[in-house]
Amino acid sequence: MKTSAVILAAGYGTRMKSELPKVMHPLVGRPMIDWAVRAVEPVTQTPPVIVVGHGQALVRACLGERGVYAEQHELLGTGHAVLQALPYIADDVDAVIITYADMPLLTTATLSQLLDLYAAANPTTAIAMLTITRDDPQGFGRIARRADGTVAAIVEEADCTADQLLIRELNTGVYCFDAAWLRANLSAVPKSAKGEYYLTDLVAMAASQGRTIVTANAPLDDVYGVNNRVHLAEAEAVLRRRIVERHMLAGVTVIDPSSTYIEDAVEIGADTTIWPGCILRGATKIGKHCTIGPYSQIADSMVADHCRIIYSVIEQARMDEHAEIGPFGRLRKGAHLGERVHMGNFGEVKDAYLGPGAKMGHFSYIGNAEVGANVNIGAGTITCNYDGVHKSKTVIGDNAFIGSDTMLVAPVTIGREARIGAGAVVTRDVPPGATAFGVPARVKDKPSADDAA
Ligand code: UD1
Ligand code: CA
Repeated sequence: MKTSAVILAAGYGTRMKSELPKVMHPLVGRPMIDWAVRAVEPVTQTPPVIVVGHGQALVRACLGERGVYAEQHELLGTGHAVLQALPYIADDVDAVIITYADMPLLTTATLSQLLDLYAAANPTTAIAMLTITRDDPQGFGRIARRADGTVAAIVEEADCTADQLLIRELNTGVYCFDAAWLRANLSAVPKSAKGEYYLTDLVAMAASQGRTIVTANAPLDDVYGVNNRVHLAEAEAVLRRRIVERHMLAGVTVIDPSSTYIEDAVEIGADTTIWPGCILRGATKIGKHCTIGPYSQIADSMVADHCRIIYSVIEQARMDEHAEIGPFGRLRKGAHLGERVHMGNFGEVKDAYLGPGAKMGHFSYIGNAEVGANVNIGAGTITCNYDGVHKSKTVIGDNAFIGSDTMLVAPVTIGREARIGAGAVVTRDVPPGATAFGVPARVKDKPSADDAA
């Protein structure tokens, strides 16, 4: 069965009170419309037709070729919106799913149940639709059934009789249509008293033609519509919870799911513990047996097994096994901590590699640098990498000892095993094994035979 989808996204979203189109508001790092497209992609064979209007430039730029676009210039109702989409649906399509772009919680699983229901019903079926049963029916179209239980119509709230207002079986706005039947009947939908064309009128039309309409009760969460920013936060909480639960079921301990923000693409190894207040974003990959947080933000970074990250901010960086940072550390773009590197409080590393076992305990900035294995970086050491015009590099050899409060004025190289005295301002290279100190730093004379005695 060749299936296509139409996603309605032309509304103004006025209640968001935003310059950004409603469907472009992000939920867990992804625009609302992106979630809607992701839900239909696995169950359709062609890109969905997105009915766009207000804010369409941003929607097109966001989705690109993942969608085809039908413009709706005037908002004349859901029936009119789908009518604009019809020319973009190929002739060989058998079934058309219709959803809303402001329903970010709709899952592929629920849509595939709808499709199964449609496919399993008899050949006279024209429409399969998702319904909900809810104590508060306000704003929803009511499902009107005949005495034999079959669906007769969807009645919009404004048109309901007193009896119909009491109906608790409601229309979600998510349907699967027989494509041929939809093509043949959509343009016959009449204008309503409000001057709109209601897609829901198709249900009564199908029923009067003797066609079958089947329904499936959807989970309430799935069909939650976002109309304002209170709804936005509620929908995001559900999405966050789903992601966190996936990790917990895969072996990650999340101490406080409600204060943990993990974007969809993040990977986390088993037996890692996430303490409260962590934000894990983008293409971040965290290994096994790590301790993350409390209160750390990690974006687009690679963290290997057995790392510890406490109260720190890490972006586009990499930590090798057993590396640790924090409290209050910062790794910026291009920072790479080798195995067992220890970074303590108030350190910042940018565009630099710290070799295995290097220690940087307190108050340091290392930028544009290459630091060898087991180097000790004393408290307050700074690589002075920027002269106001150019960035320059600092190289520190293996096992070097950099005393507290050292300024390394780049470009500069400290040889392996070299020792720098506290408070030095190093402006020239220091040879391997040498000791240098002072301002500007000078290399201490080689020890004489007398000194050795
Ligand atoms: C619609 C249904 C109602 C259902 C409810 C569920 C109709 C006539 N009624 O009512 O039975 O219970 O959804 O939420 O379909 N849109 C367009 N172009 C338009 C009109 C709407 O793109 O011309 C989009 C909107 O952006 C919105 C969605 O379609 O995302 C729903 O439209 P809306 O007018 O809010 O329908 P409801 O009154 O909620
Ligand atoms: Ca609505």
